[in-house]
Amino acid sequence: MSPAPIEVRRAGPDDAADFVRLMSDPEVFGNLMQLPLPGTESWRQRLASPAGPDHLHVVAVLDGRVVGSAGLHPQERLRRRHCAMLGISVAVAAQRRGVGTELMRTLCDYADNWAQILRIELTVFTDNAAAIALYQRFGFRIEGTHRAYALRRGQFADVLAMARLHPQPPTVGWGPT
Ligand SMILES: CC(C)(COP(=O)(O)OP(=O)(O)OC[C@H]1O[C@@H](n2cnc3c(N)ncnc32)[C@H](O)[C@@H]1OP(=O)(O)O)[C@@H](O)C(=O)NCCC(=O)NCCS
Repeated sequence: MSPAPIEVRRAGPDDAADFVRLMSDPEVFGNLMQLPLPGTESWRQRLASPAGPDHLHVVAVLDGRVVGSAGLHPQERLRRRHCAMLGISVAVAAQRRGVGTELMRTLCDYADNWAQILRIELTVFTDNAAAIALYQRFGFRIEGTHRAYALRRGQFADVLAMARLHPQPPTVGWGPT
């Protein structure tokens, strides 16, 4: 039997309860920069009015349930407008079924072919082997280590800085005049 299809669509305020469910799991929020005890209303507001019009927030739906989310957040400063920060999370019960891959594929296509983003950046805890492997499959490289970057379960933990440069930066399609 072929695996159930994974639908990726833009997130909206009605997804707030699903975000709370996803972000309540220490295995998920502990690996992000989120805090325990997420609130439905604050997620509703965040999803209703993203930080900017070009910020992309998507969810992955499997068997009719939201099982993952991902975001691409363009940088505002003029000289950094070719850059965006990426974040991703998949519910533990749905991991290792290709959901993360589908979310990454969607964000990379958006960045490469539509959004004029040439550099996608992120940070990942140094012991998060699953996420590091996923990012490397999509062409991200490790650029360095931020030491004692964030508090996690009572300890300051290191993160890797990773980034992916556009594999084939866009050119002018109509040729020289
Ligand atoms: C990292 C994460 C997004 C991966 O999502 P996923 O849906 O399980 O990923 P996929 O099923 O698409 O797996 C894609 C690839 O990632 C790598 N991978 C995923 N889980 C892995 C694991 N537990 N160990 C090693 N590699 C793993 C593998 O290369 C895998 O390909 P394969 O299954 O063909 O070997 C997910 O584990 C997650 O959300 N973790 C908690 C939150 C988090 O860490 N977010 C990232 C913060 S920087």
